Amino acid sequence: MLKVGLIGRGNISKAHTAAYDKIYAENERAKIVACCDICPQNMEDLPDARHYTDIDAFLKEEQGKLDYVDICLPTYLHAEVAIKAMRMGFDVLSEKPMARTHALAQEMCRVAKETGRRLMVGQCNRFIGAVAVVKNTVADGSMGKVRTAEFTREGGGAPLGYQNWFRDEALSGGGLLDLHVHDTDLIQYIFGTPKAVSVMGQNVNPGAGYDIVFANYRFDDFIVSARCDWTIVHDFHATRVLRVNFEKGYLYLDRTDGKQTFVKVDEDGTVTDLWELAKTDLFYNELCYFMDALEGETPFAECLPESCAESIRIAEAEKQSADLNGGVVLC
Ligand SMILES: NC(=O)c1ccc[n+]([C@@H]2O[C@H](COP(=O)([O-])OP(=O)(O)OC[C@H]3O[C@@H](n4cnc5c(N)ncnc54)[C@H](O)[C@@H]3O)[C@@H](O)[C@H]2O)c1
Repeated sequence: MLKVGLIGRGNISKAHTAAYDKIYAENERAKIVACCDICPQNMEDLPDARHYTDIDAFLKEEQGKLDYVDICLPTYLHAEVAIKAMRMGFDVLSEKPMARTHALAQEMCRVAKETGRRLMVGQCNRFIGAVAVVKNTVADGSMGKVRTAEFTREGGGAPLGYQNWFRDEALSGGGLLDLHVHDTDLIQYIFGTPKAVSVMGQNVNPGAGYDIVFANYRFDDFIVSARCDWTIVHDFHATRVLRVNFEKGYLYLDRTDGKQTFVKVDEDGTVTDLWELAKTDLFYNELCYFMDALEGETPFAECLPESCAESIRIAEAEKQSADLNGGVVLC
């Protein structure tokens, strides 16, 4: 059984622990045996794990006792804690966005190489089955060339998090780095690095940076757009749409709350329902992938630090463009 140390027991860690519970129920493959959160009451629902409120004490005490650490801390702590953990011999799975800045993400890549530790970033959307279909269809050209693609991610009011860190751009990077980065990362993952970006951004919550983002990406012979809005009052729908328009039809994925659509529409108008491929427990898939790779069953090939750092680099170009009111920034 893999012994897991969870660092950060806030909102997203609940999705991780639900997936760990499912994995444990299936075959007892992994269990959280140690947990660290600065607020002790946050760990009360993990009574079987050893509890810590100080990260340094956790790392020192748990050295040699864990198979890896799973970092679910606020973004501003990802790099610092992942680097400390790797230097102390831990393999690391760390939540997205990889780091608050590209420079910190690069440092994480450097330390992973230097220490030889495993580092995977939880860009969980890469583990949606439909995303693999889209990526493969783009790569194999079976629907012809890409003409356009569009991504929409509208998530209601921005969360507050521990001591309101989400609302402080210096700590979270705002909606642009926190929510929109899911699409920046998918775009980079599916199509590669764009040549240039042009982004209009809007601040609504004071101090929170760009919480509305309308981004355009220029590739050699097609264009892509992505919209993100973190400010919708009483949003009961949490819109999640991805559409790629090819020469010979399109792929359309809609995971908006209440909708379950993934279709392929061919040149002759045939509509094929592919929802079975899209139906996915993405955190479960992400954790299983990490464990398979850690145990040598599959190579480490997804969400590698260099690839996720590239998404942070593009997000920084997007921020630069938004600061220029949509000015074109080369990537
Ligand atoms: N993959 C996804 O879809 C997804 C969704 C939501 C959030 N996230 C990411 O997950 C990360 C955490 O987000 P969240 O919503 O869980 O935030 P959160 O504020 O709810 O949780 C963070 C937790 O870390 C703890 N913490 C803060 N400082 C600490 C310290 N110094 N030592 C120990 N514990 C400390 C807090 O007490 C809190 O429990 C963020 O980077 C966020 O972007 C990812």
